[in-house]
Amino acid sequence: MTGVVAIDGPAASGKSTVARRVAAALEALYVDSGAVYRGITWAALERGVDVHDGAAVTQMLAGLDLRFFARDGAVVFSIDDREPGDAIRTQDVNNAVSPVAVIPGVRIQVVLWLREMARLGPLVMEGRDIGTAVFPETPCKFYLDASPEERARRRHREMVEETGIEEAEVDASLRRRDKIDSSRKMDPLQVAPGATRIDSTAMGIDEVVSTIVAAAKSDA
Ligand code: DC
Repeated sequence: MTGVVAIDGPAASGKSTVARRVAAALEALYVDSGAVYRGITWAALERGVDVHDGAAVTQMLAGLDLRFFARDGAVVFSIDDREPGDAIRTQDVNNAVSPVAVIPGVRIQVVLWLREMARLGPLVMEGRDIGTAVFPETPCKFYLDASPEERARRRHREMVEETGIEEAEVDASLRRRDKIDSSRKMDPLQVAPGATRIDSTAMGIDEVVSTIVAAAKSDA
């Protein structure tokens, strides 16, 4: 495969698992674009920068040395020579990332970085605006969805063992994030023109993966 497969969708729609497996099947590099927004958020929290202050976050960003490289079938990145690893998955980052991702200066910079990643080889990139803003010209665009109840069930299953969190709390937090992600002014979450919409509520992962792989191969 050459080029980019774009997979967008709301939180807990199964994008990450699906995109990873599609990338492996197509021998392309997997990119988690949300990780870049999370990395910037982590850097801001570490430096004590107010994540609601767009000018301060944008100014911080200009001074960051972000580098990315391919490793184990995925694109990973470092910020000022440190790889954030699991530090981008904390509850503090979960709570702060949506306000960071609405800052226009942040989005402009991240879109440029994500486009540069295509120099590393064919990509399967998942996110919220890959088909609409980052690679709108790719013919291979998918919008992965599932009902809010099913997404809450899936995310709760992932989190309950470590955190003991209630499903109702997961549901409320997902709905809050969906609202911020789809109502922001710049590049809101929406189905890209020409994207294939896949509702995975009643589908297994294997079926979703094989649908996308088959479509990507026929587009290539
Ligand atoms: O997918 P995620 O939960 O790791 O995403 C983290 C945040 O980044 C979420 O608030 C949406 C935002 N995001 C975005 O605005 N555009 C993307 N392409 C990917 C993520």
